[in-house]
Amino acid sequence: MEIKKIGICGCGLMGSGITEVSAKAGISVVVREVNDDFLSEGLARVEQSLARAVSKGKLDEAGKKAVLDRITGTTKVENLADCDLICEAVIENLPEKIKLYRQLDETVKKEAIFASNTSSLSITEMAAATRRPGQFCGLHFFNPVPVMKLVEVVKTVATSEATFAAAKAFGEKVGKVVVSCKDTPGFVVNRLLVPYLLDAIRALQDGVATKEDIDNAMKLGCGYPMGPLELTDFVGLDTTYYIAEILFDEFKDHHYAAPPLLKAMVKAGYYGRKAGRGFYDYSK
Ligand code: 3HC
Repeated sequence: MEIKKIGICGCGLMGSGITEVSAKAGISVVVREVNDDFLSEGLARVEQSLARAVSKGKLDEAGKKAVLDRITGTTKVENLADCDLICEAVIENLPEKIKLYRQLDETVKKEAIFASNTSSLSITEMAAATRRPGQFCGLHFFNPVPVMKLVEVVKTVATSEATFAAAKAFGEKVGKVVVSCKDTPGFVVNRLLVPYLLDAIRALQDGVATKEDIDNAMKLGCGYPMGPLELTDFVGLDTTYYIAEILFDEFKDHHYAAPPLLKAMVKAGYYGRKAGRGFYDYSK
């Protein structure tokens, strides 16, 4: 099935990014948020990102308008009824996601494919809550979505080949390189990335080096765009902690155990960039 119209649930950081890349690829988008305030905030983020592209000469004003014209915002799940693909990027809470999928399953046309952008929750469990487990997969994008070239397409034991092929074609249409993986906590990227971030926090905790030196070591020694502590601030300390807990719970491997420093910082509300404070201070 070719994806001509996509319904996106959630217009936060990830949902707004998926909205932008889909509309840029010529796909009609209906994006749903739970209330008007969240919706306006998310759509403003899309507009700002497009304005940035215009200011850099990558898009003209007419192109920006054409992209925005392909996007419709809504707070009603019913308005997603005729979409070919539903991409869900709501809060990382399994019961909340399952509740939404049950509602979508009742409302959206039966041929439509469902995909979750979850970073670590079980796609299989979400799929099993619907009457279309064969038409269910993961589509895991990376932050910032307009910039990062990867999407992980996640297959469960029930995902059909036709669903996988349509999801892969969609990922390529929105300009991403697709890697395919099975439904296992963290998929490929977070399974490898999260223990690296946790080890960097352990190194800081053990006084191996300052945060600046740990970050510079990895940026300049390995060519990474951000050091691990800077990247944890970018991803969110709460998000990193949450993913680590899921990985640890599954694998019971000490590499996935959150270090006490991370736990303490999350408890203190130092969530990273979005909170104005993480390993670094962003208040200014
Ligand atoms: N939206 C759109 N474009 C953006 C952007 C955004 N939010 N942020 C940056 N850009 C664009 C800029 O316009 C610029 O474009 P140009 O090269 O055409 O001029 C380009 O990206 C580089 O931006 P900057 O010059 O402002 O800044 P940097 O060179 O420092 O790059 C960065 C910023 C792209 C964020 C880079 O530091 C980076 O790649 N960091 C690593 C990000 C990463 O690892 N993300 C994955 C996190 S893990 C994840 O998402 C999974 C989840 O499950 C946890």
